[in-house]
Amino acid sequence: MTANPTSIHQRLDRRLSGFSLEQPFYVSPEVYALDLQHIFYKQWLYAVPVCQLAKAGSYTTLRVGAYEVVIVRGRDGEVRAFHNSCRHRGSLICKARQGQVAKLVCPYHQWTYELDGKLIWANDMGPDFDASKYGLKPVNLRNLDGLIYICLSDTPPDFQTFAQLARPYLEVHDLKDAKVAFTSTIIEKGNWKLVWENNRECYHCSSNHPALCRSFPLDPEVAGVQADGGVSKKLQAHFDR
Ligand code: FES
Ligand SMILES: [Fe+2]
Repeated sequence: MTANPTSIHQRLDRRLSGFSLEQPFYVSPEVYALDLQHIFYKQWLYAVPVCQLAKAGSYTTLRVGAYEVVIVRGRDGEVRAFHNSCRHRGSLICKARQGQVAKLVCPYHQWTYELDGKLIWANDMGPDFDASKYGLKPVNLRNLDGLIYICLSDTPPDFQTFAQLARPYLEVHDLKDAKVAFTSTIIEKGNWKLVWENNRECYHCSSNHPALCRSFPLDPEVAGVQADGGVSKKLQAHFDR
């Protein structure tokens, strides 16, 4: 298939509602590159629970397509995201998945950055070097009731609409004061759209995850949170079954 944007649009235009997308959307490297360019590099993405960054200097790293990102809590308690790429020669700065540091020190030639991204030490750069121009490049970040979202775009789309919709479901859990008790990394070897379809439709849930189905109703009308954040009578009835 030729996966130029026009043919993608044509394929999307002839998509039948309620059916899967055509095969190239799940297997074509060209389509995946467009997914990155038009979705993952532009939209807000969930990154990490903020409680994972418990103290000043706690950091976590993640990769979005070609971009390496580090999320770190500063001495002022603020959580910030940066491109995990040294301003000197582009080395990866934090190599571990997560950790605890006093400063962000590049392993290649030891350029040293404060936890807020400012460059505070660089060797042999001469008298005219202006360190203030070489801080880490920031990545947009929002903390929504204890969940950190990032956006790689220089012009991030609106976050507020999603935040208002999601907040009633999140704030009841007080996630900012939670603690990480256990972590498990699951890498699914499939296109991300298949993962989402499987997750959102949940057709397989009642036969494969009966215990999960007791914890939430599959009917969206029953599952809705009330305006006051409370549990509807229908939802309570589901849990009481
Ligand atoms: S690449 Fe980071 S200090 Fe040189
Ligand atoms: Fe499942």
